[in-house]
Amino acid sequence: MSEAWDRAAAGWNAQAPLIRDWLREPTRLMLEAAQVTLGARVIDVAAGAGDQTLDIAQRVGPRGQVLAIDSSAAILRLAADRARQAGHGHVKVLVADAQRLQLDGAGFDAAVCRLGLMFCATPLDALQGIRAALRPGGCFSGLVFAAPEHNPCLCLQVAVARRHAGMKPASHDELCRPGGLMSVGSPTLLSSLLQSAGFADVALRPIDAPVLLPSVDHYVEFLKTAASPIIELLAPLTEAERQAAWHDMRRQLDAYTTSTGWVGPKALLLFSAQVPCG
Ligand SMILES: C[S@@+](CC[C@H](N)C(=O)[O-])C[C@H]1O[C@@H](n2cnc3c(N)ncnc32)[C@H](O)[C@@H]1O
Repeated sequence: MSEAWDRAAAGWNAQAPLIRDWLREPTRLMLEAAQVTLGARVIDVAAGAGDQTLDIAQRVGPRGQVLAIDSSAAILRLAADRARQAGHGHVKVLVADAQRLQLDGAGFDAAVCRLGLMFCATPLDALQGIRAALRPGGCFSGLVFAAPEHNPCLCLQVAVARRHAGMKPASHDELCRPGGLMSVGSPTLLSSLLQSAGFADVALRPIDAPVLLPSVDHYVEFLKTAASPIIELLAPLTEAERQAAWHDMRRQLDAYTTSTGWVGPKALLLFSAQVPCG
């Protein structure tokens, strides 16, 4: 998994403006829910190329601290570069698997995880590690993709990629398999995982976060460069087969073209929880 994101690192970083526009409001809600405020010490789990890390750094100010964590060293280097360029000396980075955090007793005030938890094959391990890194009363919030039945556009792109990779259509259970894009998108499952990890005050909120782009070509370009799970499905194909797959992908995703541009529905779940006091 970390090798896959190493390969997609430059692409995810290059797509930062698109990702920023797409996730601006959900990210604001996540940072509010985690109570990321001036002077706070915050862990940013599965930080990627650091888009939300910069927002956290801005909010906590130089007297706060941000520890950006990711299992991909390549993508985290980009986050570190961006933090340095923005003059955020209070951002540190740590290459680590979220499922083996080992930050017990670190007493952080808050934790966030934007579009990362679903990639953990054992999300409970990740959640227990995050809880152990927080102080009593510390807050955790994150965003994940909602379940397949709420994400037809994601399901379509996975279906096209699987077909071209010679795989059978994925059943609902396969789409929800641990470590997959929509694996923790069920509110019941996510809520029970958070409670099992020892969090209290669990709250979940569905968020519609459509991707708005001038054309379907812009979205296909995003997939080609940054969508690691799709890129990996198509990686074993020959160049000609891959081109055919992208051509088909464009044709199918054109269904979301409207009179004002391309509008790809994306359903997210915003979650928040707190470490019990005492
Ligand atoms: C979709 S990207 C999201 C990055 C960033 N949070 C954002 O929203 O722009 C998913 C990130 O999760 C990271 N990731 C996946 N599995 C992980 C794990 N087990 N531990 C830590 N990071 C992980 C990947 O390396 C990648 O950077």
